[in-house]
Amino acid sequence: MKTAVYPGSFDPITCGHLDIIRRASRQFDHIIIAVLNNTSKKPMFTAEERVKLIKKSIADLPNCSAEAFDGLLVDFVRAKNSRTVIKGLRALSDFEYEFQMALFNKKMEPDIETLFMVTDANASYISSSIVKEIASLDGDFRDLVPEEIYDDVKLKMKEGR
Ligand code: COA
Repeated sequence: MKTAVYPGSFDPITCGHLDIIRRASRQFDHIIIAVLNNTSKKPMFTAEERVKLIKKSIADLPNCSAEAFDGLLVDFVRAKNSRTVIKGLRALSDFEYEFQMALFNKKMEPDIETLFMVTDANASYISSSIVKEIASLDGDFRDLVPEEIYDDVKLKMKEGR
């Protein structure tokens, strides 16, 4: 069985992430969406909440699952008997950082490959931070997140105010 891991902080999952997950799910038997727990980014949603939001968003994708992880990505990938990391590239600006991460991961675990997928043109401007900013200013972010989680994000923003 070919399993690929799609890692990120997903704070929260966006339509751009979901586009990558959907397309990757057609190329692999199983996609594990791996949510980084101890991110340096100070997330708005806890890892548990982020996993829940992803699970709601992928309910129609039976070969996808989501879970949180700590520590090195390559250790998680190996523990899941996978050798593939999927990453989305939105623009040239993503490339340098992603290139460096892919090289480091390769150095640590030469058997693990990073595959880059080009983000859908309609989602190339989306990021989790943009979603949070628009939502916090009471703007319309309906098109930016999976519809299943729109109310959850809105509620969290209200609570945070
Ligand atoms: N559509 C829309 N937005 C996207 C996207 C897409 N297809 N792909 C990425 N993004 C956004 C994310 O939402 C995120 O936005 P934000 O900065 O506003 O939160 C931004 O692009 C960066 O995403 P990504 O590159 O996936 O970084 P991340 O912080 O979400 O996740 C990890 C990074 C978890 C993959 C990485 O830190 C990691 O592997 N950590 C584990 C520890 C480790 O092994 N370290 C050594 C690595 S060399």
